[in-house]
Amino acid sequence: MDENIQSNLATLQTESFQTFSLFSSLKTDSLMFLNSRIIKMSWHYVSDLKTLQSLNRQVVSVENQKILLIWHEDQIYAVQSQCPHLKLPLAKAEINQKNEIVCPFHKSAFDLCTGDVKCWSPWPAMLSGVLGKVSKPKNLNIYPVKIEDDRIMVEVA
Ligand code: FES
Repeated sequence: MDENIQSNLATLQTESFQTFSLFSSLKTDSLMFLNSRIIKMSWHYVSDLKTLQSLNRQVVSVENQKILLIWHEDQIYAVQSQCPHLKLPLAKAEINQKNEIVCPFHKSAFDLCTGDVKCWSPWPAMLSGVLGKVSKPKNLNIYPVKIEDDRIMVEVA
């Protein structure tokens, strides 16, 4: 191969690599930027204290997320409204003695304060092995809550 061609080829390969490196770092920066947008949180007014106290449960929509508000033992909890197992509604879920919210469909249980999964799809027992493998165990999303002048505020990304 001609020396000039070899030299040009080497230059092109180096430039291509530099371009790729630049692209890679830009992509990382974009992801970091996106990431910083994802974790940016803001407070949203979602309901009034008296309304939730009278209803006990209320599903609200904030930033395209459906959130289940729960009034339980004089506390307000805000959790994702759908069970992480098969995305079925948790509005009628029971809360057990361990302060876990238990899905009415296959009895997955989640810590009401942290959202940690405590039990994954154990019911019905004959199908739990199959149903439990339909999706991997996932925690329930929990949203911070505060009250401002009887207005319930939820912090959402
Ligand atoms: S949908 Fe909740 S445990 Fe299956």
